[in-house]
Amino acid sequence: MCGIVAYIGPKNAYPILIKGLKRLEYRGYDSAGVALLNGSLQILKKEGKVSDLENFVAGKSTEGTVGIGHTRWATHGEPCDRNAHPHLSNSGNLAIIHNGIIENYAALKTELELRGYTFESDTDTEVLLNLIEDIQKEEKISTEEAVRVALNEVVGAYAIVVIEKSKPDTLIAARKGSPLVIGIGKGEFFVASDASPIIEYTKNVVYLNDEEFVVLHRDGNIEIKTLGNIQKTPYIQKLEMDLEKIEKGGYDYFMLKEIYEQPQVIRDCMRGRMNAEKGWIKLGGISEFANRINNAKRIIITACGTSWHSGLIAEYLIEELARIPVEVEYASEFRYRNPIVNEKDVVIAISQSGETADTLSAIQIAKDRQALIYGICNVIGSSIARASHAGSYTHAGPEIGVASTKAFSAQVTILTLLALQLAQSNGSISQSRLRQILYELEAIPSKVEGALKTNDKIVEIAKKYKDAKNFLYLGRGLNFPVALEGALKLKEISYIHAEGYPAAEMKHGPIALIDENMPVVFIATNQSAHEKIVSNIQEVKARKGKVIAIVLEGDTVIRGLADEVIEVPETDELLSPLVSIVPLQLLSYHIALMRGCNVDQPRNLAKSVTVE
Ligand code: M6R
Repeated sequence: MCGIVAYIGPKNAYPILIKGLKRLEYRGYDSAGVALLNGSLQILKKEGKVSDLENFVAGKSTEGTVGIGHTRWATHGEPCDRNAHPHLSNSGNLAIIHNGIIENYAALKTELELRGYTFESDTDTEVLLNLIEDIQKEEKISTEEAVRVALNEVVGAYAIVVIEKSKPDTLIAARKGSPLVIGIGKGEFFVASDASPIIEYTKNVVYLNDEEFVVLHRDGNIEIKTLGNIQKTPYIQKLEMDLEKIEKGGYDYFMLKEIYEQPQVIRDCMRGRMNAEKGWIKLGGISEFANRINNAKRIIITACGTSWHSGLIAEYLIEELARIPVEVEYASEFRYRNPIVNEKDVVIAISQSGETADTLSAIQIAKDRQALIYGICNVIGSSIARASHAGSYTHAGPEIGVASTKAFSAQVTILTLLALQLAQSNGSISQSRLRQILYELEAIPSKVEGALKTNDKIVEIAKKYKDAKNFLYLGRGLNFPVALEGALKLKEISYIHAEGYPAAEMKHGPIALIDENMPVVFIATNQSAHEKIVSNIQEVKARKGKVIAIVLEGDTVIRGLADEVIEVPETDELLSPLVSIVPLQLLSYHIALMRGCNVDQPRNLAKSVTVE
């Protein structure tokens, strides 16, 4: 939800900002802009992607060793040049970039207008900047002090960077609820929404905490204070990210690269956490709280989007293996409905980015009510990881494609280990069954490789169905969340309407939609429900629907019925989502590509949703 980047040091800022914005573009791509200090305060901004900004800037002067840059996901005000960041204050002395939402901006704007301020844009950000300027002038205080006072007046979430025309040797940044990383180089500083724009220049970073602000001086001095004006000592950490992990590595799109990374991601996710031969599992985060989790009255899983689908899979796994009751909640609903949660509950929050505002708020509510919070995040040091009492990282590496793929597989892997560890510690699984599943788990990466081999077949299927207006995805048991995830992938990147349903629910309504123009994707890899799925396929065929079936290798029964069959390797049924999701990811990828869609940056979406 908006990416921000800033630089101060001896180099020319513009190339660093543009490169950084390209790496952050997954966070929003409605407009992009930079502000450069070079005696004057120069602002260059444009509706569209970072490449549109580059074209606009070509041939213009881009001097300046201090600068800020922004890539926007629109909240207040339509995507257009006028609403693009950076914004300038009324006096022209200050410029700002902002990721987040200032909720009380309307009241602040009215007050400022009464005091003679005018606004160029429809954004909440411009209001915040003029509030800073007004406080600075009225109270005759430094800009950093005015930033601190202003931020104490606003309600909402922000990561901001402010530069000042009359102070070219200083950058001011602050955060609350939106991420901000500071890179500490030799005689230079970087600021960004995540570490990807920084990694190329330095591995030394400071993660700013909520309600802290930082003043970065050209002479190398760094000052961090809380909004309550308490001095903090910078805690410098070493980045573990590799540059190559955030590049496309020969693939046309990040999404395809990330789909193909899944076998390795699953291996990385399991490494050091289990051993089939010895029959052990150890998720570091669990051990300390194993008793409390096993004695939990229930487990509540909260998440959004794809992460919520992983949560649904975990519900099946934890109830089946560990026999602990589980409820799965959309974080956005949970936070607004006064849920009954107490110290006997364990809340598992799942999030790739670790920054999703709804999930973060759900955690806060559960924490206030004394529940134990177990966070499952991909991004190390993210807000959700830090807000949790315990947790596990998925170690999927940076996921840049807006449509989540490898993060889903890593989440399901961790959740499987978690269910098994709970089952082992509460004695609800025999050692032989545990070993059997662990051996199957070890073999999953090679089975996912097998599923990836269906790619050519899927290209052919995509050609036939790319112009469909609607799709239905149906599955039973563990394959129901897989159906939901397959439908989400298709709609978010190809803009085809798609719905996922439990296959047995079809007869209660969706069957009315079926005719010769309706492709129905059946996820039919669970042997225990095979006969029932076969009946559902027949019901669709009887109404002239087109059936695309994901089946186990050698399934001659469904091959004889379906229009298209995609065969994937067999595994333990409990692990089948890890294999059956792969062809669905590939199907949506190829259909989207054939329809001319930007698969990495689908319209209206952003990777990390840090607004409500
Ligand atoms: O970062 P999170 O896992 O918390 O994100 C949750 C959803 O916003 C995310 O899964 C979204 O649905 C993706 N676009 C799905 O591909």
